[in-house]
Amino acid sequence: MFDIKITGTGSYLPKKVLTNFDLEKMVDTSDEWITTRTGIKERHIASEDEATSDLASKAAEEAFEMAGVSARDIDAVMVATITPDTLFPATACWVQKKLGVKPVVPAFDISAACSGYLYGLILSAGMIKTGVASKILLCASETLSKITNWDDRSTCVLFGDGAGCAVIEKSDCDSGLLSYVWGADGKLGKLLIQEAGGSRMPATKETVDKKLHTVSMQGNEVYKHAVTKMKKAAIESLKKANLTGEDVDVYVPHQANIRIIEATIKRAGIPMDKTVVTIDKTGNMSAATIPVGIDWAVRDGRLNRGDILLSTAFGGGFTWGAAVLRW
Ligand code: ACO
Repeated sequence: MFDIKITGTGSYLPKKVLTNFDLEKMVDTSDEWITTRTGIKERHIASEDEATSDLASKAAEEAFEMAGVSARDIDAVMVATITPDTLFPATACWVQKKLGVKPVVPAFDISAACSGYLYGLILSAGMIKTGVASKILLCASETLSKITNWDDRSTCVLFGDGAGCAVIEKSDCDSGLLSYVWGADGKLGKLLIQEAGGSRMPATKETVDKKLHTVSMQGNEVYKHAVTKMKKAAIESLKKANLTGEDVDVYVPHQANIRIIEATIKRAGIPMDKTVVTIDKTGNMSAATIPVGIDWAVRDGRLNRGDILLSTAFGGGFTWGAAVLRW
């Protein structure tokens, strides 16, 4: 048990909405295909001058307000993202500057794709337990539209942009991280990848022409692994906390595909009415999906102090994670 408390949450989605009907005009697809295969109806798209740190900063301001803290109180900043403003400096450094967090505290990014928020939560719990930090700003923010191949119907219908944040502090009640599971398997990394732009394949005219700076995914292979790992992580984390699916008050899964969510809840014994689904309105926002779902659940009264919250994720790497929290 880690004595932590998420004292504030916030989220931000860019203004522009791209519907399935808009996509019908861009590629050979249909609202019917996208809805039945994924559960997605629409997604938000960042404007040309909006970067990942801009989205994160807006979500962070909401989280500060709910927590009753100011940027000057924060003593560590983390941003989970696979769409950083710049490869370096870290997006967390841009967020630190934008928000006015003290220019002495550590700020760093977490690259764990869709599992990034849960990785950050587990890290934060460890940092608070060991006294490394006491008021952490954890952001998960993505502008996936900027690395999407808008000519590839098999991926462009899936992703959206958005950000979710949390202020995490030492608990002053019985809230806490009850258990967690996290892992990775680099063997299958190529099934979901942004090939170019790193040291393996630096940017050249050819890499740009071939669109190697966009997301490439073998969807049906990733799907199989996502279902297996999300189910396993849910069951293992509940077991570690001596709980079952029946004890879960709110389940916030990563939102990649409604069918993955349905398969997970069936196996873990969690009712659909306790499951937060945002995918119809947001698409897959990678790391940002879980904190956005948590923020919406807090703000609409579904998630309350004392509730058992389960969250699970799976993403590129492959990476996965699960966390059981007493809220
Ligand atoms: N519109 C219409 N038809 C399409 C579209 C589209 N947008 N995309 C693909 N198709 C076609 C294919 O060409 C194929 O046609 P064919 O049978 O004639 O060859 C057919 O639909 C079936 O394609 P599949 O890829 O097998 O479709 P599937 O049912 O697997 O659904 C999907 C695809 C939605 C991508 C699914 O595989 C999935 O959700 N995968 C997992 C995604 C995931 O979990 N990602 C991890 C996190 S993301 C991250 O880390 C950034």
